[in-house]
Amino acid sequence: MKYLIINGSPRKKNTWSIVKQIESNLDGEFEEVHLIKEKIPLCNGCFKCFEEGESECPHFEFVNPIVEKIKECDGLIITSPVYALNVTGLLKNFFDHTAYFYHRPSFFDKKALVAVSTAGAGHNKVAKYIDETLRHWGFNKNYKIAIAFGAREHPEAKEIDKIDKTAQRFRKDLESKKLHGPKFMDLIFYNAWRAMTQADEPNLADKEYWENTDLVNHEFAPIVKLNIIQRMCGKLFFFIFKRMF
Ligand SMILES: Cc1cc2nc3c(=O)[nH]c(=O)nc-3n(C[C@H](O)[C@H](O)[C@H](O)COP(=O)(O)O)c2cc1C
Repeated sequence: MKYLIINGSPRKKNTWSIVKQIESNLDGEFEEVHLIKEKIPLCNGCFKCFEEGESECPHFEFVNPIVEKIKECDGLIITSPVYALNVTGLLKNFFDHTAYFYHRPSFFDKKALVAVSTAGAGHNKVAKYIDETLRHWGFNKNYKIAIAFGAREHPEAKEIDKIDKTAQRFRKDLESKKLHGPKFMDLIFYNAWRAMTQADEPNLADKEYWENTDLVNHEFAPIVKLNIIQRMCGKLFFFIFKRMF
């Protein structure tokens, strides 16, 4: 298994101690991306990724190598400490540069383990935000570990137990290669973006992506099996959004 670790912490301390404990439960290769070292300039809001395609981003050379690593990995481990009740600016800047994946979801066969540390507050909310972001990108399943360290620098026994159990569930799920069915909200967002490609004046970069990948002809990414209810919901959401747009 190839694991990619995207570290949103500027240092290797509390959050990194969770990563080390996760690693002790997994077998395989680990590649590390420390966003602090990547020196990605701030997103300047030019909209080029949305409107002209991600390769037109003025920071493509910084962002794309990381995106390619995500495409190549079997499992993603993504981390952030809580900063001012949110992810770090480092991780948020990376998410801003990859926001085009909301329009053009891609990673339908990927699974992630989200690791968040905090002193006292915001850890569950931040882990949920990272999970939601990845789901918008298309990720199939995300596991979450969120720990309040207080004044400590390392997890205590019951937290280690929780990390181990979650990391082992993540590993087994990856090894099974099973793809889980989409959640209700995944079907809604997928079909909203799909329907937007059918609008009178669609976003051309999005339309090209949805058509070239043939996703436009499916209620959800075809590699993910849908039950009859999910398929009917997908059709219904597409029909409603198409009329709206
Ligand atoms: C700029 C900054 C903002 C922070 N904001 C919060 C916060 O809103 N709530 C909180 O409980 N801890 C906050 N913390 C504490 C860190 O989340 C906590 O110490 C974390 O475990 C540090 O992880 P690290 O060792 O990977 O840097 C903040 C720390 C820094 C440096």
